[in-house]
Amino acid sequence: MSKEKIHPPQYYQDYLGLEKILKSQHLISEEYGKPAHDEMLFIIIHQIYELWFKQILFELDSVLEIFSKEDIQESHIGTAVSRLDRVIEIQKILIDQIHVLETMTPMDFLDFRDFLIPASGFQSVQFRLIENKLGLSKEDRYSYSGTDYHAHLKEPEQAKVLASESTPSLFNVVEKWLERTPFLNWGVTSFWNEYEQAVAGMLDDDRQVIKTNKKLSKTEKEKHLMEYENTEASFGVVLSVKEHNKLVQEGKWRLSHKATKAALLILLYRDQPILYNPYHLLTKLVDVDELFTTWRYRHALMVSRMIGRKIGTGGSTGSEYLNKTAEKHRIFRDFSELTTFLIPRSALPQLPQEVENNLGFFYHVQGN
Ligand code: HEM
Repeated sequence: MSKEKIHPPQYYQDYLGLEKILKSQHLISEEYGKPAHDEMLFIIIHQIYELWFKQILFELDSVLEIFSKEDIQESHIGTAVSRLDRVIEIQKILIDQIHVLETMTPMDFLDFRDFLIPASGFQSVQFRLIENKLGLSKEDRYSYSGTDYHAHLKEPEQAKVLASESTPSLFNVVEKWLERTPFLNWGVTSFWNEYEQAVAGMLDDDRQVIKTNKKLSKTEKEKHLMEYENTEASFGVVLSVKEHNKLVQEGKWRLSHKATKAALLILLYRDQPILYNPYHLLTKLVDVDELFTTWRYRHALMVSRMIGRKIGTGGSTGSEYLNKTAEKHRIFRDFSELTTFLIPRSALPQLPQEVENNLGFFYHVQGN
C-alpha cells in the first residue's frame, strides 16, 4: 500500500481567505455619518481590479523568468505566449467592468468623493509595478507639473516601485532575446543584405509602375513620384543604422537596430515552423500594449463623464492628464509599427536551404 500524505479536508471559506476579504469593505461615508449607497460598489470594483493586477503581475513575473535565461527552449516561448494570452483575457475584463462602475451616476459619486482626498488610482502600487515590469521607461512617462509618479506613494511601497524601475523589464529581456536570434546570418550572405536588395527591387518596380502608367499626365507622374519618396524615406530609416540611431536619440524609436532586424525577420518569415511561437509572442506584446491603452482611454472617458473638468482626488488635471498618459504610455509601439517595413510574400528573399533546415523545432543559441 502506498503511503500517500493524507490531506486534511479543506473548508471553502478558509481556503479562499473569504473571512478577511469579505470584511475588507469599510465605507468611509458611514464613518462620517453620511452613508452613501454607491460607495460599496466603488470599493469592491477597486478591490477586484487590484486582485486582477495581482494575477497579471504573477503571469508577468513568470514570463520575465523565462526570458531572463540566455538559452530559451522553443516550448518555453509557447508557455510565455499562453501566459500573455491569459493577461490579455484579464485586460478585456478590466475594460468591460467599467460598465458596472458607470451604473454609479456622477451625483452618487459626489455623495462620498470628497472623503477620499487625496487617495486615488494614482497610488495603485500594483498598477505602477505592471507599467515598470512591462517596460514603461522613465523618459516616456508623462508627468503633470513635473511631479514624479512615485511621489504619491508611501514607504515602503515607494521603494518597491522605484526598485522595479531598475530591474530588467519585459521590453528589455525581449530585446536581448531578439538580439541573440541566430537566423540573421545566412552564410555567404545575410538576411539584411537580401532584405535590402528586395526592398530596393520592390521600390524600383513601384517607381516603374508610376512612370509607365499611361493614364497619368507628366505632371501627375512627377507628383506621384515625389510622394513615393516618403515611402522610400521610411524604409531608409530601418535600413540605415545611422538613421535608426538618430530616431532612437530623438525618442521616436526604442528597439535596438539588431533587435529590430530580428523582429522583422520573424514577422516576414512567420510561416516557418520555428518562428511560429516568436511571431505569436510579438503579436501578444502588441495586444497587451494596445489593451492597456484601450483601458486608459476608456477610464479617461468614464472620468470625464463622472467629474467633468474637475481635478482628480489625487490632485492631477483629471481627464486631461489621463488622456495624455493614454497617448504617451506605449511600451511595444515599435513592434506594431514594424508593419511599415513589411514587403509582400512574392518579393521575399528565398531562404537558403541550410537556414531553412536549421529552422527546426528546437534550436540552441551558440552566439551569432
Ligand atoms: C468614479 C470612478 C473613478 C474616477 C472618478 C477616477 C478618476 C481618476 C483620476 C482623476 C485620475 C488621475 C489622478 C488623480 O488626479 O486622481 C485617476 C487615475 C487612476 N485611476 Fe481612476 N478613477 C475612477 C475609478 C478607477 C478604478 C475603478 C480604477 C481601477 C483600479 C482606477 C485606476 C486608476 C489608475 C491606475 C490611475 C493612474 C493612471 C495613471 O497615472 O496613468 N480608477 N483616476
